[in-house]
Amino acid sequence: MQTESFRQAEFPVDPLFLNRWSPRAFTGEPLPDAVLFTLFEAARWAPSSYNGQPWRFCYAKRGGARWGDFLACLHEVNRQWAEQASALVFLAASQSIQAMGQTIPAPAPALDCGAAWASLALQASLLGWHAHAIGGFDRTAAARVVGMPEGYDMLLAVAIGRRGGKESLPEALQAREAPTPRRPLAELVAEGCFPRA
Ligand SMILES: Cc1cc2nc3c(=O)[nH]c(=O)nc-3n(C[C@H](O)[C@H](O)[C@H](O)COP(=O)(O)O)c2cc1C
Repeated sequence: MQTESFRQAEFPVDPLFLNRWSPRAFTGEPLPDAVLFTLFEAARWAPSSYNGQPWRFCYAKRGGARWGDFLACLHEVNRQWAEQASALVFLAASQSIQAMGQTIPAPAPALDCGAAWASLALQASLLGWHAHAIGGFDRTAAARVVGMPEGYDMLLAVAIGRRGGKESLPEALQAREAPTPRRPLAELVAEGCFPRA
């Protein structure tokens, strides 16, 4: 697997981790169900507190009956690029889970859903697609669009597509269309104490 040359790891990791990134320019080509459901399958196997699996996914494919409704929930700044994606996904978390034979408040639903989102994104990258997380959307509108019942929190939108040419983006976004670096490990990790900046 080719590694995005911009990204340098300090220690050897599988190229998968460096190759996943969040482009905004997409081709808009159709996303086969076989691919889409492989992404959900990867998400399904994420770890979660008490194996509570609080994640719920709702999707709309570009050109499908619900596409416009999903797209309309994104903030304009995100809609302007995400409209070229092949699918949009809303990720919601259950506020409660089944554990030890009873219903309990989900201890860490956002963490669990974060793990599921990351699995989905890494699987997309492995298949030559990209998944771009979007926090900038109207959660209330998204909940309404998908008919989300009580007891859930709408957390995240995700745009999925194949990477397209950046010429399709507004100029300001073209300049940002590249994989980003990361803070040095020394800023993030320390033995026995809190990492110092
Ligand atoms: C929870 C979450 C919310 C995000 N919201 C947005 C967003 O609203 N718009 C956007 O363009 N990117 C959004 N992103 C993408 C991040 O900006 C991106 O993941 C980050 O800059 C790191 O870049 P990379 O994913 O290319 O490695 C979001 C990512 C996450 C995880």
